[in-house]
Amino acid sequence: MILYFTGTGNSAYVAHTIAKETGDSVLSLNERIKNGSMEGISSEQPLVVVVPTYAWRIPRVVSDLLTQIHFNGNKKAYFVLTCGDGIGAAEKYVKKLCKEKELEFMGCAPVVMPENYIAMYAAPPKEEALKIISKSEPTIEDITKKIKERVSLSNQRITFGGRLLSGIINSFFYTFFVKAKGFYVTDSCTSCGYCVRACPLNNIRLEDRKPVWGKECTHCMACICGCPTKAIEYGKNSKEKVRYQCPEYPMK
Ligand SMILES: Cc1cc2nc3c(=O)[nH]c(=O)nc-3n(C[C@H](O)[C@H](O)[C@H](O)COP(=O)(O)O)c2cc1C
Ligand code: SF4
Ligand code: SF4
Repeated sequence: MILYFTGTGNSAYVAHTIAKETGDSVLSLNERIKNGSMEGISSEQPLVVVVPTYAWRIPRVVSDLLTQIHFNGNKKAYFVLTCGDGIGAAEKYVKKLCKEKELEFMGCAPVVMPENYIAMYAAPPKEEALKIISKSEPTIEDITKKIKERVSLSNQRITFGGRLLSGIINSFFYTFFVKAKGFYVTDSCTSCGYCVRACPLNNIRLEDRKPVWGKECTHCMACICGCPTKAIEYGKNSKEKVRYQCPEYPMK
């Protein structure tokens, strides 16, 4: 079974691309998180977890969810991390999670996809994004082949720098950067409610027909990148930037 979490579609695209070849069923963790469902997961096939990289680790909302869910059936677990650049020492933490859950760790592989973190960096325009996605195809094919053959993904080389990024910098990032208070809405808002539906953490509500953000945010970028009228900004950081959604897996 393929489990995915996504903010802007990259990981959903990779999950469905793998599923097309393996014939596995696909389950959205966004829906699980949104509905607060902790129902156990039973799968005869290995688990394949496809998620974005947040500060050189799997998203905290995903590790928290996986910790709470009971897994039945096949104990093999593969992790595929879509990223804009690199995953640091994410593998170390995923291995630990597998040990806690009594899952057999089958490897953790990065897939470089277009950057989506527009609260901090810039996302590429559509043509450039399509080139990056096309370049990722051999990596996705290789991962899929290994999953089908039930062999481990190659071990990632874990460097001292990677350990720092996935360790102390990851904690620093969640403490100081992952906040919803930077979000605001402009007059272009049409009160369509898309952002409310898209937020996996139910962190957005409409008040007087305008979105208001609560404190439960994981910076997934689904709201700001998915707003059909580009009415959402994040401080000054998002001004004039491309709103990214995976062109191969539009989220609407
Ligand atoms: C909060 C946040 C943190 C991120 N941290 C990293 C990172 O540490 N390394 C990296 O290469 N990309 C990072 N990115 C980029 C995403 O991992 C990448 O664009 C991913 O494919 C987005 O997947 P999605 O479209 O499924 O949400 C980050 C993006 C966000 C929103
Ligand atoms: S998605 Fe955009 S237009 Fe729709 S309610 Fe949210 S901010 Fe307004
Ligand atoms: S508020 Fe926006 S960025 Fe934060 S979790 Fe919800 S959709 Fe993602």
